[in-house]
Amino acid sequence: MLKRIVITVVVLALVGIGGLFALAWRPSLAPIDPPAASAFPQDLVARGKQLAGAGYCATCHTAKGGQVYAGGFGLESGFGTIYSTNITPDPDTGIGRWSEAAFARAMHDGVARDGAHLFPAFPYTHFAKVSDDDVKALYAYFMTRQPVKAVAPPNTLPFPLSIRALQVGWKLLFFDKGVYQAQAGKSEEWNRGAYLAEGLGHCSACHTPRNGLGGERKDALYAGAPIEGWLAPALNASNPAPLPWTQDDLYAYLRSGASVHHGVAAGSMSEVIQGLAKLPDADVRAIAVYFADRNGSAAQAANADQALARAMALAQRDPGVVPEHGAQVYLSACASCHYNGGAAPLPARPELALSSTVNGPDPGSFIHIVLGGIGQNDGMPGAYMPGFGKSLSDEDIAALAAYLRGSRTMQPPWNDVPAAIAGARKQSPAAP
Ligand code: HEC
Ligand code: HEC
Ligand code: HEC
Repeated sequence: MLKRIVITVVVLALVGIGGLFALAWRPSLAPIDPPAASAFPQDLVARGKQLAGAGYCATCHTAKGGQVYAGGFGLESGFGTIYSTNITPDPDTGIGRWSEAAFARAMHDGVARDGAHLFPAFPYTHFAKVSDDDVKALYAYFMTRQPVKAVAPPNTLPFPLSIRALQVGWKLLFFDKGVYQAQAGKSEEWNRGAYLAEGLGHCSACHTPRNGLGGERKDALYAGAPIEGWLAPALNASNPAPLPWTQDDLYAYLRSGASVHHGVAAGSMSEVIQGLAKLPDADVRAIAVYFADRNGSAAQAANADQALARAMALAQRDPGVVPEHGAQVYLSACASCHYNGGAAPLPARPELALSSTVNGPDPGSFIHIVLGGIGQNDGMPGAYMPGFGKSLSDEDIAALAAYLRGSRTMQPPWNDVPAAIAGARKQSPAAP
């Protein structure tokens, strides 16, 4: 009897595994001879270039100091490192032998030319929404780049997570296939913005929290999420900034990297701005239209003047009258640039009382900015902020964080600031 049960269990398990592999199986698509660059019309290539910007392909597919699109950039998945691949048209180490059908399958299904399932570190869950025409333009752009010989280092995912066939289970749970479908009742501009944001722009990949298996939480869409030690703030009505993100504010921020009512784009968000820079104004405006509708900022417009006055009053709390360590650090290291006694924020210096980095639920972005500063090419064009990683101790930074949080905002104190500082220092030990 027992023997029979064991045999049944073993057979069922084998059928299950066999079924999984059958489900996971995808054919290899035939390799092609690399097409000549002249095979692609110039205007298609030009459009592909814009779209590659909007998908930040270069950010992930370029290793530090490596050649653009040659891959080898490591993404920490929480389970191990996954390296991006070479997407130049090199026939041996890149995608030179990929047909357009193979490229489209990677974008729409997350499957490589040889039939292997790709990991969602490659945001195919979003790229699946990209239209066939736009995939065609991207293919034309990538097949006309300079081929580079480069092989990515092997991934460090542990067994059994390294088994690509198992990705089919993840896809069943978290992958909604299908290109973007225009939403009825919304304007053409709104739909254009939604198409770009949900597809190539994959905004929710960073701004939506993930579950334990790495899937985006549909019940918390755009609720804000920690990402590489930073905070990608909520883009829905729960955004922590004192002033609502209006359509004009969003447009200014996404187009120029700075909004006078909120602050500047640093960390990975500055790479997003640099990618979006390839898009025409109308497309960036469309993205702003989409998020201004999602976050309901119009409903808060009536209170904006009051909120601004309150924040500017907090900004002017005289640090001299607070005899504490954090206030002293602020006075000696920050006030010369950030103190503003006026009634309106200044375009050239972010107003800390208005910033999500100080008002947000976790101190990650604030700590990273204080440690490493903000480079010339990040945030406001031409402006930069020096880093204080060398001149301020962990205790100084923790006291400064507590002081600004307590004086510049109406929010409760942050938790675990010392641990966040230690983590940020470990992450970028070379921070100047
Ligand atoms: C967030 C990081 C990220 C972004 C952004 C990104 N990729 Fe990738 N991509 C990856 C990673 C990581 C892999 C490897 C996945 C794997 O090994 O399973 C990959 C794999 C690929 C592959 C499969 C190549 C192969 O040899 O198997 C293609 C094609 C590709 N990406 C194209 C693009 C294009 C086109 C864009 C821009 C529209 C883009 N990627 C943007 C991370 C990214
Ligand atoms: C690779 C991750 C990533 C992606 C993709 C991304 N963001 Fe962000 N975003 C961030 C981070 C991190 C911040 C915080 C930056 C800072 O503190 O300077 C941020 C900040 C923002 C802010 C400012 C919010 C505030 O309250 O200060 C807006 C608005 C924003 N992102 C919009 C977008 C839009 C729209 C997209 C898609 C087109 C997008 N983001 C894609 C990581 C990302
Ligand atoms: C030399 C002038 C200068 C000093 C000193 C300075 N900052 Fe800045 N800070 C700036 C500028 C300019 C920016 C915008 C940088 C950019 O866009 O590239 C900025 C940006 C920021 C931001 C991002 C805010 C947002 O959401 O946009 C924070 C946070 C910040 N500073 C905090 C501090 C703190 C805390 C100190 C003191 C330890 C400090 N800064 C010292 C000039 C300065």
